[in-house]
Amino acid sequence: MQILIVFASQTGRTAKLAEAVAEGAAEAGAEVACKSVEEAEAADLTAADAIVLGSGVHMGGIESSMRAFFERMAPLWMQGELVGKLGAAFVTAGAGARGGGELALLSLLANLAEHGMLLVPMHNRMAGFGSAGCHWGPVAWTNPRAGEPGPTAAHCDAGRAHGRHVAECTARWLAGSDAVKG
Ligand SMILES: Cc1cc2nc3c(=O)[nH]c(=O)nc-3n(C[C@H](O)[C@H](O)[C@H](O)COP(=O)(O)O)c2cc1C
Repeated sequence: MQILIVFASQTGRTAKLAEAVAEGAAEAGAEVACKSVEEAEAADLTAADAIVLGSGVHMGGIESSMRAFFERMAPLWMQGELVGKLGAAFVTAGAGARGGGELALLSLLANLAEHGMLLVPMHNRMAGFGSAGCHWGPVAWTNPRAGEPGPTAAHCDAGRAHGRHVAECTARWLAGSDAVKG
């Protein structure tokens, strides 16, 4: 089972949360590749069983480098190459609670849905949900008015739990498709 994490990160915070997501997926038995939007290529996406996208929040939405990545990968959509893979998302945002984190998560998930992928949300029993939980995926607050800037240890717990859950869902999905193939 191969899981690809692709992140857009100008100042390293989303990259740190990406590492936590990767650790969780590896704990659940996945082979994990973690690449920036600049590094990731079409072949990385087609080789993966699941793709997890992460972005810093810029001006209420995803980073422009992530948008450019979506457009660079559009030929995969033309060929339906990613149909039936699993997908998930995470973000980091400066301002506590109202910075556009949820909209950014929805943009990431909308792109995965456009490719015909199956979306894995974040459920509220996961570790770290209380501090970084959103049903669309983890959100780390990196410049709150009060308290420690993220990603904090609790934010990373949420990222790790999300990565683990994505890998567990992927394993179940792959086992099910093997059973159908006989
Ligand atoms: C140009 C720019 C625009 C930003 N816009 C927002 C915003 O709309 N909402 C928000 O919560 N944070 C905003 N931020 C803060 C970043 O989302 C936050 O610092 C994030 O954790 C950066 O992630 P990175 O270190 O992975 O680049 C902005 C930062 C930059 C540089």
